[in-house]
Order: sequence, then C-alpha cells, then structure tokens
Amino acid sequence: MSSLAEIREMSGTELRYALMDLAKEVPDAIALGRGDPDLDTPAEIVSAVKKALRTGRNRLMPAAGMPELREAIAAKAVPDHNLHVSSDQVMVTAGGQEGLFLIISALIDPGDEILVPDPRYTSYDQAIEYAGGVAVSVPTYPEDAFDVRPEEVEKRIGPKTKALLLVTPSNPTGGIVTRKNAEALAELAVKHNFVVISDEIYGKFVYPPFEHVSIGSMPGMSDRTITLSGFSKAYAMTGFRVGYIIAPEDAIEAMTSIKTVTTGPVATVSQEAALAAATGSEACIDEFREIYLGRRSLLAEGLSAMGFRYGEPRGGFFFWTDSSSTGMRALELSYLFLKEARVLIFPGTAFGDRWSDYLRITMLQPDEVLKEALARMSPVVARYRGSSRG
Ligand SMILES: Cc1ncc(COP(=O)(O)O)c(C=O)c1O
Repeated sequence: MSSLAEIREMSGTELRYALMDLAKEVPDAIALGRGDPDLDTPAEIVSAVKKALRTGRNRLMPAAGMPELREAIAAKAVPDHNLHVSSDQVMVTAGGQEGLFLIISALIDPGDEILVPDPRYTSYDQAIEYAGGVAVSVPTYPEDAFDVRPEEVEKRIGPKTKALLLVTPSNPTGGIVTRKNAEALAELAVKHNFVVISDEIYGKFVYPPFEHVSIGSMPGMSDRTITLSGFSKAYAMTGFRVGYIIAPEDAIEAMTSIKTVTTGPVATVSQEAALAAATGSEACIDEFREIYLGRRSLLAEGLSAMGFRYGEPRGGFFFWTDSSSTGMRALELSYLFLKEARVLIFPGTAFGDRWSDYLRITMLQPDEVLKEALARMSPVVARYRGSSRG
C-alpha cells in the first residue's frame, strides 16, 4: 500500500490505481472514484443473456464481432451518432478500453503527434506511448465549461500531426464539444488532413439544454473520423466488456487484424447482451439519465455548501471541482477524504499535471450514499480549510 509521500510523486493512471488500492484498506469506504455505473444492468438484457445460453447461442464469433451485433450497431449509429454506415464499418471490442488501444495502435506510428485535450482520461497517454506517438496537450478552460477551442488546436498543428482526440462528453470534466466548435474543428481536420478520434462513450448522458454532437457526421469527416463508443456506460454494462468502433472499412480491417492475433473476438455471451441492448428499448437509458440528473442536483448543492467551485457537468458522470478555496492541494485533500471521511475521490492530477487544484467526483452512488459521503466530507473541509499547502 502506498504512503502519502509515495502518492505525492504519482500522477495519471498510476495515481488512480494507487488510491483505489488504498481504499481497499479503508472499511466502509464510499467510492466516488471510478467511472463505472452503479446501476443494475436492465433486466431485459440479463434475460436475453440467459435465453442465449439456454438455447446454445455460444459459438465462437469472427474477431470483428457477431454479424447481427455489427448490423445493430450500424443501425443505431444513425440516432446515436448521426452516422450512416454499413456493418463493415463497425467492429466490436472488449469495452471502450480495448477500442481506444486498437485505434491508437493501428493509427499512430512512432513520432506521430496526436492532439489530446487537457485534462483527459489518461489511458490514452499509455496507448500513445506504447505506439511510440507523442501526445500534444490542448488546454481546455473552466470559462468555456471545458469545451475544446479550435484556436488552441490550430496553434498546435504541425507536420507530424496525425490525429486529434475528442472526448464528448468529457471524462473528467463533464464538458461537451459544442456544435460550433465541432464544426470549426472539422474544418481544421479537412484543411490540415488529420484524423479525428471521437470518443463518445458518455454520449447518451448529455443533460438539457445541451445536445450531443458527433463530429463524424460533419462535411468531409466520414473518411477521417474514428468513433468510439460502447455499452458500459449507456446500459450499465461495464462488466460485460463490450465497446465498438465505427471507422472507414480499411481502418476496421487494420484494427481487426490486430484484434485477431491478440484478444480475438469478444465473448459471445457478452455480445448477446449487447445485441439485446442495441435492439431493445432505450427506456432504461432515459431512466438512468433522470437518476443522474437528480444526483447532479444533490451533489451540486452539497459541493457548493462546502465552498467548492465546480462547473455543473453538461454531460457524463463527473463533477470537475475546483477545490482551491480550501487552501489545500487536491491531492492532499483526497488523501484526507479517504483517511478521515472514508470517501474515495480522485485528485485532478490523475487526469493531467496542471490540475493540482481540482477533484473529480463521480455521481455513481445512490442518493443516500451520496448524502452520506457529503456529510462525511464536510467536517474534513471545515477542519483543514486554510491549512498550509503540502
Ligand atoms: C473517456 C473514456 N473512454 C473509454 C473508456 C473505456 O470504457 P469501457 O472499457 O469500460 O467500455 C472510459 C472508461 O472509463 C472512458 O472514461
């Protein structure tokens, strides 16, 4: 188990995992760390899986995925991503996680630059490093609710720029890429001939009055966009491990060849679950969205009462909270929250080095548990407010 001194030296994914390890030693800890939905997978999906097993639907699938599921994802790409694609432009992956790794492995050659928003889900950094690429950070700002500014992207485009990564809604900020900026970013991609990777895994959870925008649907983008999404977040199916990629056929072929010799096809039983989700009603998603909206209000009120500043998330599962009013670094504060309040929260430096005054707090616990977490955190903030910065 890591000490505070060791944790202080960490950042990114390593820091997240060290804190989760530490939380295992804390009895009755409330986890507001990871981004996995706490809600139950809808009963219709679970029943479909049982039926598939009973009726012997368990044969090995092609590496790119079960043909019926690829068809269903292609059909759903119209309402979900405003994309009109054939099933040959779709592949099924072991969660979004494998998807992002396949995209980067197939696309990035050593020395290639990829423009990535800051802060970000740092699994991308590891994949980029593994491929020998260079991640070039594009800052995002609280005053724009962490939208991606086209001018910040443009400044960083150079001869080695291969791709731009967009995550909308964003993990960790809860920001979205607005239509106006997506259009300007698409124009830049066409003008400078780079690819856009559009991670839309939280796309079903955009809160009114905001809209989800898919850059792949914009003029000139169908041949240069790789869209990543999946079932983990939308249907509370993280443990099933089903994600998908929508891309031009040659890119799907390149990624499928990597998948064939590495993980092979996703487990058939999980693909059956995803097929039930993709072809079933979306009422469950509407219900989930209402639940998250309720939690968003609850957390917003509790965090304000503690004196935190936060941008109310426009989408996704996270509050990206400015904790500077406490006078403590967010990393120290998250350590104290874990030790003294028994609440696990990730500090901003788990998502980018600049974010030492931010915390990422998830909405992924029932209301009662969120209230309990806030009640435990509040005295810690009051006790340590203004103590010297570590
Ligand atoms: C932005 C983003 N992309 C991709 C993933 C991967 O999701 P999964 O592998 O659970 O489908 C996550 C998970 O938290 C994420 O936050």
